[in-house]
Amino acid sequence: MILYRTQVLDTPDDPFRGGGLRHDADAGILVDHGLIVERGPFARVRSRHPAARVVGLDGGLLLPGLVDTHVHYPQIRVIGALGMPLLEWLERCALPEEARLAEVSYARTVADEFVTSLLAAGTTTALVFGSHFAPAVDELFAAAAHSGLRITSGLIVADRMLRPDLHTTARRGYDEGLALAQRWHGKGRSRYAVTPRFALSCTDELLASCGQLHRDVPGSWFTSHLNENLIEIRTVEQLFGDGSYLDCYDRHGLVGPRSVFAHNVHPTDAELKRLAQAHSSVAHCPTSNAALGSGLFPLNRHLQHGVAVALGCDVGAGTGFSLLKEGLQAYLLQRVRAEQSVVLGPAHLLHLATAAGAQALGLRDQVGDLGVGRRFDAIWVRPGAGTPLDIGLRHADGAEDALAKVFTLATPHDVARVWIDGVPVAGGAAAGDLSGD
Ligand code: GUN
Ligand code: ZN
Repeated sequence: MILYRTQVLDTPDDPFRGGGLRHDADAGILVDHGLIVERGPFARVRSRHPAARVVGLDGGLLLPGLVDTHVHYPQIRVIGALGMPLLEWLERCALPEEARLAEVSYARTVADEFVTSLLAAGTTTALVFGSHFAPAVDELFAAAAHSGLRITSGLIVADRMLRPDLHTTARRGYDEGLALAQRWHGKGRSRYAVTPRFALSCTDELLASCGQLHRDVPGSWFTSHLNENLIEIRTVEQLFGDGSYLDCYDRHGLVGPRSVFAHNVHPTDAELKRLAQAHSSVAHCPTSNAALGSGLFPLNRHLQHGVAVALGCDVGAGTGFSLLKEGLQAYLLQRVRAEQSVVLGPAHLLHLATAAGAQALGLRDQVGDLGVGRRFDAIWVRPGAGTPLDIGLRHADGAEDALAKVFTLATPHDVARVWIDGVPVAGGAAAGDLSGD
């Protein structure tokens, strides 16, 4: 058992529903085989467990591991292409790179880069858009399993309007997806997600096969894109005729409590009503929406309808892996919305980056905060001496202010250590200066 002594911040109760920030300036967190078994004032926990090994995390603060609900593994090498809207960016930047993952050795290198980058940014759980190539998806699951990352992912399928080398058929997509699920779903921390790219690139027949696979793999997840870009939405309308964008998925049984839809920048009220009724979740990807000029995410309407919202970095349209940056961008976006903005405080941002993501992925009983009974998935944010974040934290006016400074200033360089299930997976500890319990 290890007893961590640290300043800790988390949001066990939803700040959008009256909860707030939980802060312990000098906490003791007792971890046994990756499970948090006790938490309280350090002196009290220490006196009850005098034999536990104490690890002091001095300076900085401990947060729950970050939960990313939308990120593309094959796109790490194309981050940073600016100035294009969605469909042009896909054609010119994303899809040519995704085609390169046909070669398994290339995919293996990219998978390693991807998993390493996610962990370095403090992301401990992620719903990941996989690859169009089944062997490349195997490489991702293998890299995630090796690193410890909690991952939900799957084979991307499409059968029209991309490049021919990224197309599949309903039969092949189903068979390859089922085989991947049999290899990885429920193994360790890995789970399978049925993943049509977006309705624009999928025929009804292909989406029907996705519905079948989702039903045939109990506990599988579903993810896709929804209402991201106005031209995309118009094209989907033309392709499918009657009904909304969401209906394209809904008519095949793909809108339910284990469904996560990325973007939803331009929803109708009927779609929001249906998402809330189905207990589906939306991954808000604010840097991507800004970089592609997709639009201003209507957080107020999602909240009014009771639609669950979490955060996604959406690499490679998004500008990096840090969910802290996504939190800041979510805040900034609400500030520049002329009307109907939601003022987000630091507790909202932390909740969106942790507990809300865990909830969207059905893992809230395991992760999302650092209370008793949760797995010890945690990040220690401790900036280098003399950096603006270090100065800010030393002069912070209380816990909320300190957390606001983290969201404003922190980068992956400030994530000094990352644990999953109590095991150090990134930062100094991963290099061997501290073992797990
Ligand atoms: N819609 C379909 N594919 C993609 C993608 O790779 N990125 C984003 N942002 N939207 C998409
Ligand atoms: Zn995406």
